[in-house]
Amino acid sequence: MRHTLRFALPLLAALGACQTPVPAATDAATANDAAGGDAAADAGKDPTFAALRYTPTGCAHSVRTEQGSYMNYRDDRTTFGPMATPSAVHVSWPAEPSSTIAFLWNTDSETHASVVQYGTSRMMLDRTATGHVSTGASGAAQITAHEVHVCGLTPDTTYYYRVGGEGHWSEVQSFKSAPAPGRTDYDVNFAVTGDSRDSFAVWRMVQERMQSVTAMRQPDFEVFSGDAVLLGTIQDAWQQWFAAATPTLTRMPIVMAHGNHDNLAVNYLMQFAQPQNDSEERSELYFSFNYGPVHFVFLNDTARDPAGSIAGTQLTWLRADLTAARANRAAVPFVVAVHHKPAFGSSRYTNDDEIAFIRRTWPPVFDEFGVDVVFNGHEHVFEVSKEIDGMGNEVSGRRGTVYITSAGAGAQLYETGMRTWQRYSESVVNFCMVHATNRELVITPYRGDGTVIEQGRLTRTPRM
Ligand SMILES: [Fe+2]
Ligand SMILES: [Fe+2]
Repeated sequence: MRHTLRFALPLLAALGACQTPVPAATDAATANDAAGGDAAADAGKDPTFAALRYTPTGCAHSVRTEQGSYMNYRDDRTTFGPMATPSAVHVSWPAEPSSTIAFLWNTDSETHASVVQYGTSRMMLDRTATGHVSTGASGAAQITAHEVHVCGLTPDTTYYYRVGGEGHWSEVQSFKSAPAPGRTDYDVNFAVTGDSRDSFAVWRMVQERMQSVTAMRQPDFEVFSGDAVLLGTIQDAWQQWFAAATPTLTRMPIVMAHGNHDNLAVNYLMQFAQPQNDSEERSELYFSFNYGPVHFVFLNDTARDPAGSIAGTQLTWLRADLTAARANRAAVPFVVAVHHKPAFGSSRYTNDDEIAFIRRTWPPVFDEFGVDVVFNGHEHVFEVSKEIDGMGNEVSGRRGTVYITSAGAGAQLYETGMRTWQRYSESVVNFCMVHATNRELVITPYRGDGTVIEQGRLTRTPRM
């Protein structure tokens, strides 16, 4: 009880009279409340802050909720408002994909129950987990997002779940945990797309095409290269974005690279659970994880402080991360980086100063550490580079990096361009399907109509 009180009392003071009163905390809240002291400290700093840090039951990672003009609750409260039915239900990874999952959904601001029931049989959801709810912003940006983290999953296993709370459950959904680390017989599929922001009808169509072009083998997860919505602070746009991608995102985790239109909005930060990095002003914006034979590195090129972040904290982190990945390359042979703005695009923004800055900063490191493929968005086209070094020059006699822009899953298309590093460019709605084993990484780009962009096919083999 001590931790809960330390959390609840300063939070009450921080919320002020304009917010819904906080019911008395219960003993149940202390069962997995490992760091209430941090929450108390954060909440006490500023009356508009109510950030919370805790370690979910059985997890090795902690959760830090976003700071801003909103409140965060974490306990077993069972309050339901008139719009308590969960919407925008989806799953993503807060840490190791073979053993962890985060469930997220939205409700009205009066609904404070954040409960998940799950199990390995649709008929027996015999495990329960609780998480936190964040209510943020006001007006068009107003959002209430629920988030529950579960750890200790069995790898390569289908789990069934429903979210909400007693009397207000979602439909039962399912997802599959990632294969166990260290295998030599990986066989995984993932999809890549981005820039859905102007048309959610196209976004919906792209989601459906991803499922239909590989009807015999659905993607295990989806990578998004940024710019989901036109303005990240418009919550209605997010609701439409999630609605268009349902039921895909209820069963297929999505991993997001932050785009400039996502605007570092609390709506973005609250609605996705990604690995957290405490060294950034906002967590969950740059991180890495392994899925089967691929080491993924996600970076944020839209930081509020580009020089300090892109060439500072992230660059330092990137080098350390890729150093560790290099040492593990026998077990995880491929390295894929993802960020929003393409260093080696050839469409509308190639000559921009900010793009030139990114181009000077990250590609030399990608080249030094043998990153196989970099996926980007921002330019609403499909583009693939030659195999190039960190300066954009085609390599010969050694391996280089290939840069792929996969964007235009709803955003208005841009014209194609031509640069020396470019191999192929097409102004078309597109997405990529990637099949990875320990022996090869095969990338097949598709147009929105389901035809293959033959000129963009790419196969990479392990470097060692
Ligand atoms: Fe864009
Ligand atoms: Fe963009």
